[in-house]
Amino acid sequence: MDHFLYQNGVLHAEDVPLPEIAAAVGTPFYVYSTATLLRHFTLFDEALNWTDHLVCYAMKAASNQAILKTLAQAGAGMDVVSGGEYLRAKAAGVPGDRIVFSGVGKTAEEIHMALTGGIRQFNVESEPEMVVLNRVAGEVGVTAPITIRVNPDVDAKTHAKIATGKSENKFGIPIARAREVYAMAAAMEHLDVIGIDVHIGSQLTELGPFEQAYLKVAELTEQLRADGHDIRRLDLGGGLGIPYTRSNEAPPLPMEFGALIQRTVGHLGCEIEIEPGRLIAGNAGLMVSGVIYVKSGEGRDFLILDGAMNDLIRPAMYEAYHDIIPVTEPAPGTEQAPFDIVGPVCESGDTFAKQRMMPPVAAGELVAFRSAGAYGAVMSSEYNTRPLIPEVLVKGDQYAVIRPRPTFDEIINRDTIPEWL
Ligand code: LLP
Repeated sequence: MDHFLYQNGVLHAEDVPLPEIAAAVGTPFYVYSTATLLRHFTLFDEALNWTDHLVCYAMKAASNQAILKTLAQAGAGMDVVSGGEYLRAKAAGVPGDRIVFSGVGKTAEEIHMALTGGIRQFNVESEPEMVVLNRVAGEVGVTAPITIRVNPDVDAKTHAKIATGKSENKFGIPIARAREVYAMAAAMEHLDVIGIDVHIGSQLTELGPFEQAYLKVAELTEQLRADGHDIRRLDLGGGLGIPYTRSNEAPPLPMEFGALIQRTVGHLGCEIEIEPGRLIAGNAGLMVSGVIYVKSGEGRDFLILDGAMNDLIRPAMYEAYHDIIPVTEPAPGTEQAPFDIVGPVCESGDTFAKQRMMPPVAAGELVAFRSAGAYGAVMSSEYNTRPLIPEVLVKGDQYAVIRPRPTFDEIINRDTIPEWL
């Protein structure tokens, strides 16, 4: 469920008509709904109410500080994967003891930053990382709380580029070697081994793969405890998928996910963390774009938009489907026709949808990409010297620009010309 509905024939974000925002900031832009963000966070939070828990929003999905602050004020922790994300979370007011640090390639500098600034735990992904973490913690004079990310070798049944839990992926340590690696960690002076971490992939649309992974984690918890480790926290990752189409997909709900966690690991008495990103932000955001031209081609018609692959790369990168709807509600019974919906970037990959059935839209009208809140703005670039597009946050009948569109001067003046030119 989200808060982007037609009211009086015009698509709104909560109580704000999208054309009003378009008139103020220009197109294209991203717009997020506060109520939807909070609703999704609360669903996860309530799904884990049966135990001590923390929902750590995977801020890679949408990392604007206004979004982070909205969620943090509701009680969310953050899952960060870089020094930049760590600093951004801190800047948004998230306390260090609510930040978990994930990622396969944490540098010594990033580790130092988190150890001095405060951190809830590191999710360690390899032995070499463990060695560096132990050394830096020693230098800083602290003990680093860690979980070790295990790779359970399960098939997440999602797009290959976003599956992480198979043994051939770069993530975590093979679960078969976990006891050996935990023994190594326990012997390191500046590490405190507190738990286990697992994350098997993103946009999972069934619970089976989670269940397989969590059962393996439960078994490992018991083995590690028998080996003398005080396993008291389980970080079970993110990955729960969202419906991108309105008809045929019905991924499991957070409540069912929470019940699965209870069933598989609840008996262990561990504190539970999860790291959802997409389900919190995905359907809380739209990308709104203007139609530049409607072009008739050889046997097909094109809608040429002012948004492009650099603004929303998911269709080009993952063959992802995004619903694209007109901002002006079509009259009931309006005939639809197939269009290729494309951006102005100079490559054929800049195609959002092929032969998509759409009601007629004319040049100058607005369309909205649904489910664009997660992995939208954060993955955008300035390819073709196209400015990063503004982000807008709506709350009820108010809206605020939470990232303005940079000017061309700002973009161009970032380049520096060597003296010899
Ligand atoms: N935790 C870890 C360690 C992760 O690597 C990820 C996502 C998450 C949590 C959050 O997963 P989520 O709940 O959002 O599924 N750019 C891709 C998705 C990449 C996901 C990367 N890791 C896309 O647009 O589909």
